[in-house]
Amino acid sequence: MERFLSCPAVPREEGAPRFPGSFVTVHPDADTLALATAALMVREARRAVKARGRCTMALAGGSTPRNAYRLLTQSPFLDLMPWADMHVIWGDERCVDPGDPLSNEGMARDDFLDHVPIPPAQVHPMRCEGQATERGRAGDVSPEEAAWRSAEEYEGTLRTLFPRRDIGGATAPGHGLDLKGATCDLVLLGLGVDGHTASLFPGSELLGENDRWVGAVFAPGASEGEVRAEGLTAAGRDLWRLTLTVPFINRARSVVFVVSGRSKAPMVKQILEGPISAAPLPAQLIRPLSGVLRWYLDDDSASLLGMNQAGW
Ligand code: 6PG
Repeated sequence: MERFLSCPAVPREEGAPRFPGSFVTVHPDADTLALATAALMVREARRAVKARGRCTMALAGGSTPRNAYRLLTQSPFLDLMPWADMHVIWGDERCVDPGDPLSNEGMARDDFLDHVPIPPAQVHPMRCEGQATERGRAGDVSPEEAAWRSAEEYEGTLRTLFPRRDIGGATAPGHGLDLKGATCDLVLLGLGVDGHTASLFPGSELLGENDRWVGAVFAPGASEGEVRAEGLTAAGRDLWRLTLTVPFINRARSVVFVVSGRSKAPMVKQILEGPISAAPLPAQLIRPLSGVLRWYLDDDSASLLGMNQAGW
């Protein structure tokens, strides 16, 4: 039985919103969390293809979603996912080569993309690997300038993939944030122990970005606590990164945070039950304008939430 959440700020189970359009579901452990995440990815993809003929999905980086990604290479997920109509983008990427162990693209390709029949042209990686440093060397531009150039390149990719539809239905590369409609069908997000998500870090100027869909950021060094909690993911710091911005994510039809482990429990509690301060944490800024927000937790990451154990 799933654990019911009795805290007033958090619904008892999926179906009762924490705030309009948001739901929290607690799974017993990391394995069932991965199963549920893979099932959600298939469900949202099939729903999108049935409604609009394609699905666009933004992948989370880090380690948490990797078990779900690997499940996509196995039946029934492999057989049910509409691969031919899928487009994959990334929520964020570290400016390293795809072959680098820190690369979110490299991880996703190892976990499933290189093992499923998705058309290669429908995989849209955030490329700023050596470019950020090569351009820094070869083009006499700083790594920062190189990273921002890569961000603008990826923005161009997105504005072609998600053309703005005028009232008459004519399409043009997206300009700005018309609040009509949604953008990405499903955005998967992780959560850092400091409340970051994608590569949106506390205190970053990107948190105030209202127009761009992609930004560049120098990820601050990880604290000792983050290294303990996030291991390799925390190693993906102290380097330039690209990230989707809050306005792009908030235009998605469906957003899901996938959070596992006791180390994340304090931050999960702060975000789901705590006050939103004058300087909100990045994950608190994720509130889809018209889409659904889900929190997929496991018992450990939900362990500090107001709970009423019923039906065990
Ligand atoms: C990244 C991720 C980042 C990640 C969190 C959680 O590229 O590092 O996008 O936002 O999702 O740091 O990472 P774990 O799942 O490894 O705990």
